[in-house]
Amino acid sequence: MHPVSNNIFILSIKSMAKMTLTIDEMATFCKRKGFVYPNSEIYGGLKGFFDYGPLGVEMKNNLKADWWKTHVTQRDDVVGIDGSIITHPTVWVASGHVGSFADLMITCKECKEKIRADHFLEDELKIAADGIKAPEVNELIKKNSLKCPNCKGDFQEVEDFNLMFQTNVGPKKDAKSIAYLRPETAQLMFTNFRLVQENMRLKLPFGIAQMGRAFRNEISPRAFLFRCREFEQMEIEYFIHPDEVDKCPWLKEVEDYKVRIYDACMQKDKTDSKKMSMKEALDKKIIKTPWHAYWLATELQWFEKLGANTDNFRIRQHIDTEKSHYALDTWDLEYNFPFGWKELQGMANRTDFDLSQHIKHSKTDLSLYDEETKKKIVPYVVCEPSQGVDRAFLVFMFDAYTTRKDEKGSEVVVLKLHPKLAPFKVAVFPLVNKLKEQAKELYDKLKIELPTLYDRSGSIGRRYARADETGVPFCVTYDFDTEDDKSVTIRERDTGEQVRVKIDKLAQTLNGLVNGKLKFSNL
Ligand code: GAP
Repeated sequence: MHPVSNNIFILSIKSMAKMTLTIDEMATFCKRKGFVYPNSEIYGGLKGFFDYGPLGVEMKNNLKADWWKTHVTQRDDVVGIDGSIITHPTVWVASGHVGSFADLMITCKECKEKIRADHFLEDELKIAADGIKAPEVNELIKKNSLKCPNCKGDFQEVEDFNLMFQTNVGPKKDAKSIAYLRPETAQLMFTNFRLVQENMRLKLPFGIAQMGRAFRNEISPRAFLFRCREFEQMEIEYFIHPDEVDKCPWLKEVEDYKVRIYDACMQKDKTDSKKMSMKEALDKKIIKTPWHAYWLATELQWFEKLGANTDNFRIRQHIDTEKSHYALDTWDLEYNFPFGWKELQGMANRTDFDLSQHIKHSKTDLSLYDEETKKKIVPYVVCEPSQGVDRAFLVFMFDAYTTRKDEKGSEVVVLKLHPKLAPFKVAVFPLVNKLKEQAKELYDKLKIELPTLYDRSGSIGRRYARADETGVPFCVTYDFDTEDDKSVTIRERDTGEQVRVKIDKLAQTLNGLVNGKLKFSNL
């Protein structure tokens, strides 16, 4: 392999610029390039539902595959399950969702428009309304004379709206056949806890992971993929011995890792977030358990490993009024979206809430026998890293979106997705149409090795631009010299640099570049 001598195709990528798109512009880009479409658009669409297009499905699958590999298959202490979407309705009574999985809703007396109360107050009064209670909502509406944005009518008193999607199982539609689409994947890890522990002979501490669809009848779905009614989650319930809250064997791995932290006190005192190491946060008792510190850092490291910019992340502790009914302490991994800092991943300390509830409601013993104390214990979920796939997808898209000027001075999008996430890893081009058969033959061989595109229409510059826009990290050009030197040119998306590589080493080289075992600059 040697650097290409002829540099006619080297594009100037030096002027690459980071672009800040609005969420609507990102939705338009995703639709235009085949990443995500509004659902059933030909019928006017359905709010809160989206379809992933040909590029989006590949990228989403890559994201999920890497999450599973990192969190399950590469770990000794986590195993996976794949539970059903509809489950016995008592599961959701025991978990507390039937009783209290609700958002506050305000309804206009005139036009009957229904709006999520905390979002409405945030938009109208520019305040943080996370976890706000009903009396406060009524008071703020009255004090500020807030009216319906649709018809300027007055509001009724605020009420709870349960987010569970209800359905009926079987042919009879009565109270006995009511069931729910799961609002989180989590509960299946608790209902299957005993079987999984026995089958896999797991010893505490251990985790059970699951990824899959979740459904919430959000009052006001908004911000594209950020708040949908159907979405996917990747979750882990991490179980420990209740007496070992302070013993995390892997803390050392993350102790020096620095993260921007925004705890409950900083929020109360209205001070800025602070960047500090996990060790400092634990020493100062800002983060209370080493487990929480370990999982918070580990989760941020996953985003960093896949190319996200850590400057756009912080971890924020829930204030008392916003904690879920099951949580002792919750931290969110937040991302600085164009519409502000928002939750990307929730990490709650659920204690023994869920297992105890299922023991009570199912009358089944889900405890474990502690050999040391010779007593039964109900394990604690010390941390539940709960990640939305669609929000992670958005983060990688925002952090990857850059632009450059082409040789004519026009702006070209360069989607700098990590090669592991990129829908297609390689694009093969014949330099001119005359070489199309040879190039197609090369493409046919390469696509067996890794996801590859073939493109022969338009100028070579136009083909590079098309590949850049959809995040293809490497382009391979079959040119006039290929017949003689049995080599092709590989061009790297992020630098525009090119090298010539022997065809018989091509698949191996490209695989090495994609999985990070080879560096382009070292070729
Ligand atoms: N089992 C805990 C749980 O479900 P959550 O904070 O309600 O906790 C976890 O949800 C994650 O699921 C969120 O951090 C977010 O990434 C994703 N998520 C929740 N609601 C969502 C929605 N309506 N649309 C898209 N993603 C959502």
